[in-house]
Amino acid sequence: MTGTGADTPIPRPSEWDGAAYDRLADPQARWGRAVLDRLVLGGDETVLDAGCGSGRVTEELLGRLPGGRVVALDASASMLEEARRRLAPHGQQVRFLHLDLLELGPSTLGDGYPVDAVLSTATFHWVTDHDRLFANLASVLRPGGQLVAQCGGEGNIRGVLAVLRSLDVERAGTWLYASCDETATRLEDAGFVDVDVWANPEPTRFDDPELLTDFLSTVILREHLATMPPEERRPFVERVVAAMEEPVVDYVRLNMVAKRGA
Ligand SMILES: C[S@@+](CC[C@H](N)C(=O)[O-])C[C@H]1O[C@@H](n2cnc3c(N)ncnc32)[C@H](O)[C@@H]1O
Repeated sequence: MTGTGADTPIPRPSEWDGAAYDRLADPQARWGRAVLDRLVLGGDETVLDAGCGSGRVTEELLGRLPGGRVVALDASASMLEEARRRLAPHGQQVRFLHLDLLELGPSTLGDGYPVDAVLSTATFHWVTDHDRLFANLASVLRPGGQLVAQCGGEGNIRGVLAVLRSLDVERAGTWLYASCDETATRLEDAGFVDVDVWANPEPTRFDDPELLTDFLSTVILREHLATMPPEERRPFVERVVAAMEEPVVDYVRLNMVAKRGA
């Protein structure tokens, strides 16, 4: 499923609030730890964190690379600022890269090229051209290098989008909630082998309405709210929260594990 958004054009790129995300992203950090467990690491590899955000998962990754290096890439300056703060104790072990994944290639990584592995959590669904995304990732991985990733998949937040529709609202913005089959095909077309793709539901409960309002504002409705006057944003999200039968976001995660072919 691809979101094409409502009629109002959104400012591109719409920026994240890195500090708010860092405070709110407990679900993503929890899922990220499980994804990280799928990476097979000796401890001295160079790993690209593709869409590192505020660096919470990157920090865990660094904990598993005592002799290795991380390239922490993100398109958001605000997220990278947070990540720099969080990861400062790791000094030269981390290189920060302010880059769109759709522009990634060997020359953009400098002496970080090629990487031994790519880790990515909660990011790929924000990138709508997965063919180009996977080709770019393959281009920076050494032959045999691992790709371990998770993002929103087919059916992700269907219930939340239905609540919006019940309020006569189509969410603005762009996203791609791809299926397992199309993702496996795209990965193979990009030169990946040993491809394994699966999905799992992750219904996520927010018992505190304020927390749910902040979370929806910062993550799920971020692009939509950017199309609205600031004073209308909070009341709008509060209406969405009030219209939800349960304070549960019906997340569906799309998981992928693959290796770059020789
Ligand atoms: C929900 S956050 C996930 C951050 C982190 N990986 C985590 O699990 O908490 C999504 C991140 O993807 C980044 N992102 C989205 N599209 C991107 C693109 N085309 N290129 C690089 N980063 C992108 C955003 O800036 C944001 O930091």
